[in-house]
Amino acid sequence: MPQMLKVTPTEHGVRLITLHRPEAMNALNTQLLGELAAELAAVEQDPGTRVVVLTGSRKAFAAGADINEMAERDLVGILNDPRVSHWQAISSFSKPLIAAVNGFALGGGCELVMHADIVIAGEDARFGQPEINLGIMPGAGGTQRLLRAVGKSLAMQMVLSGIAIDARHAQRAGLVSEVTQPELTIERAIELARLIAQKAPLAVRLAKEALLKAQDTDLASGLRFERHAFTVLAGTQDREEGICAFQEKRRANFTGQ
Ligand code: CAA
Repeated sequence: MPQMLKVTPTEHGVRLITLHRPEAMNALNTQLLGELAAELAAVEQDPGTRVVVLTGSRKAFAAGADINEMAERDLVGILNDPRVSHWQAISSFSKPLIAAVNGFALGGGCELVMHADIVIAGEDARFGQPEINLGIMPGAGGTQRLLRAVGKSLAMQMVLSGIAIDARHAQRAGLVSEVTQPELTIERAIELARLIAQKAPLAVRLAKEALLKAQDTDLASGLRFERHAFTVLAGTQDREEGICAFQEKRRANFTGQ
């Protein structure tokens, strides 16, 4: 049983995972990251869970890596850091991941947000990479994903100055897809997750993979992947069901076949 996560049983294909380390603003220590990686691995094997919503508390989604834990690590400890494999496991999650963010999403917290496919933020959310204030720099994908998400100038400003941006700014910059009242953030994320959970799972999975390819490949390779994925879906029962349902003016019942 995870101790630093609250996991709500899957409902309507959606599992809600809440980071729960209130005494440290959900700072991401090895245990919390390990529990999250294990939970996502379990979801990966569960056909009943089609979408995950990841959230924190009203005050903090996550305030970054655990600075006290970092203080105990020397260079050898950093080279053998078990958190690296946890981050890799989180980044390879293949089902849709929606982040519902209130409060602080700083350092590793902001990097965790950027592992999500869709980000819904409360008006009070703040996104930042303050590692520079600690004499270090982002180390969980922050420089690479932030630049791709918000462009060079804002990414440089955030990483080099450590200054955080608010939810509206993050939305304008492309880091966040929707801004809600803070008390509605989770509700809206779950609503969206339930909608996605009704779609054909294979199409959702391949569409996510194709969109992510756009971030790290050239256009010709991305287009080749898209064509290949589109062709794979042509052989699925869900494609047949989707087209039949449209023609018969009824709702499609997708099975993932
Ligand atoms: N690690 C460990 N503990 C943390 C923490 C962190 N990242 N962030 C907050 N906490 C703890 C505080 O130490 C405090 O604990 P105590 O009550 O025992 O003193 C508790 O959470 C509440 O925090 P504050 O009293 O500071 O709350 P606040 O509302 O005044 O400020 C805050 C909130 C702005 C988030 C502030 O806590 C803060 O600046 N935290 C650090 C943010 C940061 O620098 N993150 C980057 C970490 S490095 C990183 O993330 C690198 C990486 O991934 C590779």
